[in-house]
Formats: sequence, structure tokens, C-alpha cells
Amino acid sequence: MSESELITLQRANQSLRALNESLRNAQAQLLQSERLASIGQLAAGVAHEINNPIGYVFSNFGTLEGYLARLVEMLEAYEQAEPALAGSDIAVRLAALRGRVELDYLKQDIPLLMAESKEGLSRVRKIVQDLKDFSRVDTQQEWVWASLHQGIDSTLNIVANEIKYRADVRREYGDLPDIECLPSELNQVFMNLLVNAAHAIGPERGLIVVRSGDAGSEVWVEVEDNGSGIAPEQLARIFDPFFTTKPVGRGTGLGLSLAYGIVHKHHGRIDVRSEPGRGSCFRVTLPVRRAGAEGAAP
Ligand SMILES: Nc1ncnc2c1ncn2[C@@H]1O[C@H](COP(=O)(O)OP(=O)(O)O)[C@@H](O)[C@H]1O
Ligand SMILES: [Mg+2]
Repeated sequence: MSESELITLQRANQSLRALNESLRNAQAQLLQSERLASIGQLAAGVAHEINNPIGYVFSNFGTLEGYLARLVEMLEAYEQAEPALAGSDIAVRLAALRGRVELDYLKQDIPLLMAESKEGLSRVRKIVQDLKDFSRVDTQQEWVWASLHQGIDSTLNIVANEIKYRADVRREYGDLPDIECLPSELNQVFMNLLVNAAHAIGPERGLIVVRSGDAGSEVWVEVEDNGSGIAPEQLARIFDPFFTTKPVGRGTGLGLSLAYGIVHKHHGRIDVRSEPGRGSCFRVTLPVRRAGAEGAAP
């Protein structure tokens, strides 16, 4: 074999190796995203199951509160009747019993316990509702007229954990009409933008601003952070599938490419402004009416 043939072979071998390596990476990333997708489905399924029992516990709780109020009313009537028994055995026993069961304390504490439990239940119910809204498990994936703010709010609740220790969130919502869209897919977009914003925040507490506005036949939503920003040479690549600057396990590099695909499907666009060291702003612009379809009025 001549030297030049050998070199060609070595080159071919090298590029095959590189290709193999990138395929392996791609497979690992796909597995990861597949896993994330099934975790999402699982969460949505669990939320769906919890929804029912929480519903009747909540409703029974309301009834119970009413019953307790009636019992307390009755107790008070008994109390008022007590002086009539003054001097009798029964009056002595009643007074002792009242002390033993700590009636005054109970009357004070029961409403507090009820209020606290109700607050807890409301919170669980809210989380479950948000999970359901977010994944829209109960509806077919179809084009509907929906409020973006509602989707963003439930998405914000879902990712609250990811954000709350790093940044404050400020909502500057404009007046938006409902738009014709695939709501749960758009929620995915907002989730990715919000999580990315949270990830970009450094050790100091940051600020994420979610803004929206109406531009006639289009609406826009911005997610702005005052985090790390994006280097100019990376800006062109952030929408590439598998492009990530995050360590394995933290980033898959799929978030923005997914978001891009979803926004594209809506005939919208994503624009990015970023200044390294100061932060980034992602703006999603979407048509109000589904492009290319003569949809019904909202
Ligand atoms: N708000 C942001 N601030 C700084 N960098 C960002 C922001 N959003 C995205 N990026 C950059 O774009 C890359 C790709 O984002 P994404 O597709 O969501 O993948 P991942 O978050 O899994 O890395 C990130 O790794 C990061 O380098
Ligand atoms: Mg991401």
C-alpha cells in the first residue's frame, strides 16, 4: 500500500470514528429526551388520578366545615343553658368535663386547623390542575382558541421549583386576545425558555421578566433574564439540536430546537437578543389566527 493510500485510509478511519462518537452522543441524548417525555406523561397520569380524590376530599371538607359550625352553635346554646343547672351535680360534672376536653381551646383551634388544611388542599389541587393544564392530558392535541397567559401561569407554577431559589419572576402582561394554537405545545416552549432563563442566572439572585403584548394580527411573549447571556459565536447555534453548553444531565440541547419546531408549526418566530454578562431575551411571536386555515371566530 502506498503512503498516500495509507493516509487516506487513516483519514477515513478517523472520520468514521468521529461519526460513530457523535452517533453515540445523539443516541444518549435521544434516550434522555425520551425519558423526560415519559416522566412528563407519568406526572400527567398521576395528576389525573389524584384529581378525583382531591376533588371529593375538598368538597367534603367544605361540608365538614359547615357541620362543625352548626355543632359549635349547638354547644353555645348548651353553654347558655348551663346557669339554669347551677348548684346541681350535673353542673359540676359539666364544668369538669369542659376543663378536661379543653373546650375553649378546641373552639379556638379547630377553625385554625380547618383553614390551614383547606389552604393545603387548595394548593395540592392547584398543582394537580396546573399539571393537567400543562400537559392537557384530558384533551386531544388539537388547535383551539386559548389564552397564552393562562398557559404561561400554569407553566410558571410547574417550574416554580426550578426558579424560586434563583430568581424573582416579574409578569408584565399586556392585553392579549386568545389565539388559535396547540396550547400544551406552547407551554413546552415557555417551559424551555423559563428553565433556560433560570439556568442562566449565576450565584446571585436574578430576575426573570415575562412580558407580553398584542401587535394586531400577532401577539408576542418575551422571557428575559439578567443571567450569563450568550456569546456571539454561540448565538447562531443555540437552536441546533443537541447544542448545549451545560454539563451532561443538566442540558440535552433539545429545548430550543423543540421550541423552534413548535413555534414554526404555529407559523411564528423566535427572536433572541443577548449580551454576554448582562442577560438574554427570547421573544416568541405568534399569529392570532392559525395561518393557512380559515378557523372559526374565537
Ligand atoms: N436564557 C439563556 N441564557 C443563556 N444561555 C442560554 C439561554 N437559553 C439558552 N441558552 C444557551 O443555549 C443552549 C441550548 O439551549 P437548549 O436548547 O434549551 O438546551 P439545554 O438547555 O438543554 O442546554 C444552552 O445550553 C445555553 O448555552
Ligand atoms: Mg434548555
